[in-house]
Amino acid sequence: DFMSKEISENGQVVRTALAIPEADIDQMVQAIDGSERTVLTGVGTSYYVALMGQYMMSGLANEFLPAMSSDEMPHMVSLRKGDHVLSISQSGETYDTLRALRISRQRGATLSSILNVTASSMAREVDHFIDQGAGPEICVLSTKSTVSQLVILLRIAIRLAQLKGQQSDEQISTLEQDLAALPDRLDAIFTGDHGQIRDLARHHSVMRNWFFLGRGIHHGLALEAALKFKEVTYCHAEGMSAGALKHGTISLIDDAMHTVIFLPGTDSPQLRQHSLGAMAEISARNGKLVAFQPQDCPQPEPRPETLIECPSAGRWTLPILQLMQAQLFAYYTARALGRDVDKPRSLAKSVTV
Ligand code: G6P
Repeated sequence: DFMSKEISENGQVVRTALAIPEADIDQMVQAIDGSERTVLTGVGTSYYVALMGQYMMSGLANEFLPAMSSDEMPHMVSLRKGDHVLSISQSGETYDTLRALRISRQRGATLSSILNVTASSMAREVDHFIDQGAGPEICVLSTKSTVSQLVILLRIAIRLAQLKGQQSDEQISTLEQDLAALPDRLDAIFTGDHGQIRDLARHHSVMRNWFFLGRGIHHGLALEAALKFKEVTYCHAEGMSAGALKHGTISLIDDAMHTVIFLPGTDSPQLRQHSLGAMAEISARNGKLVAFQPQDCPQPEPRPETLIECPSAGRWTLPILQLMQAQLFAYYTARALGRDVDKPRSLAKSVTV
């Protein structure tokens, strides 16, 4: 099937994204820096990519670039001349995103895009775009193009941080080394032993209700992981920030509810501590926990029922590795349930209405 083939290509599309000329990245950085305000937008998976991008821009470059779902963007933000909209769309044809761009244009904003299909309406309508070059994605679900978009946003955030003097030369070089190591680490997840994820999926495929949690950039990851899971398994999955759980949703936690939580590494001590706090709240109510974390971390306390580790990585590329694991988890659960992984019911590759 194409879904697993395309997940297996994550490492390769990152190599391609890292080979995009610096001049193309800089053009986007200048569009952001030269604007009064930049808004990130997309819908579905592409919105969650934008949201993770917002954390990158804020955490690395100290810049506030709000991410908004394109279906609601025209109602939420009043743009004007001097503003800039950076849209993310693998197809370049999504109606909601095109509509948000056209309304933004009427209000005087400049437009740019990160796209995987360059012969698309968005490519024609924006002032400039970055071509992901991730190759055709046949599976209706976006996997490799999501990973590629995240890497491009991370490159933009790193360059913006450099331009703004927000990271030292040494920090920039550490970030670049971490990015350079990402393709091999993604390959290692696929070629290595991901049997643990397959077994987890097989043993839990009867579960119909899931929560997916994370804090910081792992919040955006949790939303995307839940969406991927819903799209292909047809099981109910709700993604949210781990901090939001206690504000109402915790009433649903009992011994029949399973929660996936994406833990950051020990290099993000506060974020990790807060995530462990959410685990303690779930554990105290006998909820079942599946935790994802890098392999160089100590055992989380409280102990999850299942712990899935990934290669160690820097704090900004770790969520990309965990995203690949979440894609595999959704894939194997769907296979265990006999779903059509390449063409899930009711979904289309580009939603043009
Ligand atoms: C559809 C798909 C989603 C996708 C969204 C945005 O709703 O079902 O999986 O994330 O469109 O697609 P785009 O091509 O704009 O990235």
